[in-house]
Amino acid sequence: MKRLGILLSGRGSNFEAIADNVQRGRLTAEIAVVISNRQEARGIVAARARGLPAVVLPSQGIAREEYDRRLVAELEWHRVDLVCLAGFMRLLSADFCRAFPLRVLNIHPSLLPAFPGLNAQRQALEHGAKISGCTVHFVDEQLDAGPIILQAAVPVLDDDTEETLAARILIEEHRIYSEAIALVLSERWRIEGRRVIAK
Ligand code: GAR
Repeated sequence: MKRLGILLSGRGSNFEAIADNVQRGRLTAEIAVVISNRQEARGIVAARARGLPAVVLPSQGIAREEYDRRLVAELEWHRVDLVCLAGFMRLLSADFCRAFPLRVLNIHPSLLPAFPGLNAQRQALEHGAKISGCTVHFVDEQLDAGPIILQAAVPVLDDDTEETLAARILIEEHRIYSEAIALVLSERWRIEGRRVIAK
């Protein structure tokens, strides 16, 4: 069974959606460890409540390279095959990415390359986009930049607020993250340039 390492910083709803799919047998994988850089993250409380190995690695005051070394050590200790960033609000170093080549995924609440970075839903509203959505992509050392695995689109409605748009996107996030993990674990894909092509 392939082993997932989930990294999060907050609410953890994407983690919970993945955990539900694993529990219901819809995603063939095992959650080996959930790691948070924030002590108070709701996601880490949820991981403990599910009886999953949950680790807090506080990042404050630690240099990025040193922090990422600790992260890699923790993930290797738990023999993680695939790292899933689920609302993990930190950039990862080149060394981290090299430790898990094409083995780190991220979910982002926009149709990349539009609206990378923080507050993607607010950016889409402020820009006046008519369609937004979410993206699961491989992680490299640049922000929200690696090859795209799956995307889902949602309409932006005239009366949307940041919250209503985020909620509509989140439903799709919860669906496509597990699909993307299953695809990557199946190894039935290849990369041509930046294009991830399912075989
Ligand atoms: C999600 O919307 C995720 O796409 C976003 O943070 C939220 C985390 O929610 N990630 C980013 O913006 C990364 N750049 P969750 O903790 O409930 O999964």
